[in-house]
Amino acid sequence: MSLDDPLIVSDAAEANQSNAAAAAAATAAAGMPPRFSCFVTGTDTEIGKTLISSAMLHALVERGVRACGMKPVAAGAELVDGVWHNDDCDQLAAAGNVHLPQSITTPFLLKEAAAPHIAAALEGRTITAVPILAAYVEIYAAADATVVEGVGGFRVPLNDSFDTADLAAQLELPVVLVVGLRLGCISHALLTVEAITARGLKLVGWVANETVADMAFADENVAALAARIDAPLLGRVPRLATPGAQAAAAHLDFTQLPNWPAHTKL
Ligand SMILES: Nc1ncnc2c1ncn2[C@@H]1O[C@H](COP(=O)(O)OP(=O)(O)OP(=O)(O)O)[C@@H](O)[C@H]1O
Ligand SMILES: [Mg+2]
Repeated sequence: MSLDDPLIVSDAAEANQSNAAAAAAATAAAGMPPRFSCFVTGTDTEIGKTLISSAMLHALVERGVRACGMKPVAAGAELVDGVWHNDDCDQLAAAGNVHLPQSITTPFLLKEAAAPHIAAALEGRTITAVPILAAYVEIYAAADATVVEGVGGFRVPLNDSFDTADLAAQLELPVVLVVGLRLGCISHALLTVEAITARGLKLVGWVANETVADMAFADENVAALAARIDAPLLGRVPRLATPGAQAAAAHLDFTQLPNWPAHTKL
C-alpha cells in the first residue's frame, strides 16, 4: 500500500475504507522525508524472520528512530495473566520503541499454532486485508520506521483468495528475504525471489542466517545465492549461542537498504 496510491482490494466497500485511511496518512506524510519500512519474509517458517526483524528494529532504535514492529498475522498464542501472548509479537515489541496495542501491531492473533487460515477457521474468523491495512496506517502515523514480519514463507494462505504475498503487495513494501541456511535453501530462496518479483515487489536485500550449526558447505551455498540474487547481502548471521536482536544486528549492515535513516542520536 503506497500511501499515495489506491489500494488493491477486491471488495469496493473495503477499498473505500482503506483508501480513506491511506489518503489521511498520505496527507500527514506530505513533505516529510522518506521513511523506512519493509516486509520481512523468509524461505520457510522457523528460519529467523523474527530474529532479523528484531535486529532491524534494534538498529533503528540505536539510530534514534521511532521504530515499530508489526506481525499482522500470528498463529500460536499463550494466555499469560489473562493476556494472549505470541513469542514473535513479544520479541518485536521488545526490540522496537513505539508501543501500540497488540490489536494494532497484530490484528490477527490466533491461538492455534497452525497454518493461519486453519487457525483462523478454528476460531470462526476470516483473515482479511482491511484490518491489517488500517492497522498499518495507524503504525505509520505513530512511528518513523516500520518492520512488518510475514508469517511462514512467502506464499502462506491467509484466506481462500489472499496470501502473504498478496499482503506484501497490498502494503506495497520493499521486501527483505531471510534465507535459513540449510540443505535445500538455494532452491527455496530462488523460488521466493521469483515470487517476490512476480508480484511486482522489490527485493531490497537478503540475509543468510545460520539456523543450524556447522552446515556443510555453508560458504559455497552463500556464494551460490549471492551469484543469483540481484539484491545486496545484508550480512551473514552465524549460529548464535544466545540469539537476540543485538547479537544478530552486529552481523548485519542495514545501511544498504533504501531510505535507511541516518544516525539521529546525539
Ligand atoms: N542465527 C541464529 N542462531 C541461533 N538461533 C537462531 C538463529 N536464527 C534463528 N534462531 C532461533 O531459531 C528459532 C526460529 O527463529 P525465528 O523465530 O526468528 O524464526 P521465524 O522465521 O521468525 O519463525 P516463524 O515462521 O515461526 O515466524 C528461534 O528460536 C531463534 O532464536
Ligand atoms: Mg517469526
